[in-house]
Amino acid sequence: MKGVILAGGTGTRLYPLTKIINKHLLPVGKIPMICHGVEKLRNAGIEEILLVIGKHSAGLYTELLGGGKEWGVRITYKIQEEAGGIAQALSLAEPIMKPDEKFVVLLGDNLFENPLTTYVQSFREQAEGARVLLKKVHDPKRYGVPILEEDKILMIEEKPEKPKSDFCVTGIYMYDTAVFDKIRTIKPSGRGELEITDVNNVYASEGQLAYDVLDGWWTDAGTFQSLHQASDRLMK
Ligand code: DAU
Repeated sequence: MKGVILAGGTGTRLYPLTKIINKHLLPVGKIPMICHGVEKLRNAGIEEILLVIGKHSAGLYTELLGGGKEWGVRITYKIQEEAGGIAQALSLAEPIMKPDEKFVVLLGDNLFENPLTTYVQSFREQAEGARVLLKKVHDPKRYGVPILEEDKILMIEEKPEKPKSDFCVTGIYMYDTAVFDKIRTIKPSGRGELEITDVNNVYASEGQLAYDVLDGWWTDAGTFQSLHQASDRLMK
């Protein structure tokens, strides 16, 4: 199974830190943010990784990670020219996948405690469709919020005013290659981006979006507060 880490985007909420360096290269604990995702994939047995990065700081990624040898993985890179959304960044992975391949996608700013091994195993055993990891949060409004029915997600609402559950969809996704056709069917959102939630909702409408609830702590690190919190936890 391959892994894809999405590390494009602008990181405006962390300005001016992100004026000089891309968000995913900022230190979190003792290593740059991006390295945590690489480690999580490797520890789940995923050694072939595509890193989607923006133009900003592109050279620094190769200086840090190179071809991945030091990290026990094989890394290739794709440049997302503009921050056109998470689904657009993901579409850049299409050429590296075999027709019936399954793969894991991480948002580069998602940090978490536990290994992905058991969730990846469940996805390997899943006959078809996609799988996402959920986490209970106290501020679901900031995230994609799922509406659940037993072992399936009926629908996800992106940053809803009135969340219908206190779960969020984390940036840990597992797809089959049908995802690329689904991306082609969606239109840019109000913020001008191809939204991963719209893609996941195509799977949900087909009854093909499974989930697990992630154990251990989880945070994204897109704000000063969450970056600080993640750093604090990863120093221990
Ligand atoms: O962290 C989980 C949340 O991530 C989910 O609950 C939401 O459903 C999902 O839409 C996303 O929300 P955010 O608003 O937090 O996403 P953000 O724009 O901050 O982007 C998160 C990461 O995705 C970022 O670290 C890099 C990658 N990205 C983002 C954009 C917009 C790209 O690679 N390219 C992009 O164009």
